[in-house]
Amino acid sequence: MTTGTADAAFAIHDVTAGYGDSTVLSGVSLALRPGQVTVLLGRNGVGKSTLVRCMSGLLPVRTGQLLLGGEDVTNRPAHVMADLGLGVMPQGKRMFPSLTVAENLDLGYFTGRRRARRHCASTLGWSQERVLELFPVFADRMRTRAGSLSGGEQQMLALARAMTGAPRVLVLDEPSEALSPARVGELGRLLAGLRGEGLPILLVEQNVSFACEQADVVYVMDKGQIVMEYAGADIAEHRTVIHELLSI
Ligand SMILES: Nc1ncnc2c1ncn2[C@@H]1O[C@H](COP(=O)(O)OP(=O)(O)OP(=O)(O)O)[C@@H](O)[C@H]1O
Ligand SMILES: [Mg+2]
Repeated sequence: MTTGTADAAFAIHDVTAGYGDSTVLSGVSLALRPGQVTVLLGRNGVGKSTLVRCMSGLLPVRTGQLLLGGEDVTNRPAHVMADLGLGVMPQGKRMFPSLTVAENLDLGYFTGRRRARRHCASTLGWSQERVLELFPVFADRMRTRAGSLSGGEQQMLALARAMTGAPRVLVLDEPSEALSPARVGELGRLLAGLRGEGLPILLVEQNVSFACEQADVVYVMDKGQIVMEYAGADIAEHRTVIHELLSI
């Protein structure tokens, strides 16, 4: 699959990765662009989170290259990737449950401030007012322990935390998993707003309908490879094909 990456905010070139003796990803290439939601769809176990781990600096890339804003960031450790502006909402357990909402958010602010100090004074993390404007549910719950929030609220807190770091690229691994339809709608509106501000977003999903509604570009992964790529109007046109691919 060919992917032009000259204008990419984050580009993945021909990446191979795996665990121990097993190879999970082979020859994966994709590009995230400013103001676009790029969706990565695939069934259970095809390698989506493995790719997110490689992007985050949590799993070594065996061959291939990662470029952030044109800079080679292949195999930089996770804290460096965060410093460079990669905001990640990982799949599954995303909270420090014994810390309060405010303390969880502080972890993100720390990253944003540290990055601002090192790179550019104008990119301070989002203010608390901005976070509460987008996530009003936390306004009177800053001292609540994260572990006592509902599952959906914990997911929203994980997203809020990724945003406090003022990321220049945002990666969300199955953010709609186990959310109520109302919260999925809320998530969709949030993503649309962030995309409108020019943020490049990678949205890893299994919820085809939700993902296709958000997407500017859709990649379908199967057995560690990108097997389909659709953009713009082609996404709606091929939604049935995409559904079928994911249900085989
Ligand atoms: N830490 C690990 N050690 C060994 N194998 C792993 C590890 N994590 C994942 N795998 C294997 O790698 C493959 C890809 O897993 P991955 O988590 O990337 O899939 P996924 O597409 O994110 O699936 P899901 O939709 O269920 O989250 C699977 O076969 C999985 O069993
Ligand atoms: Mg996964």
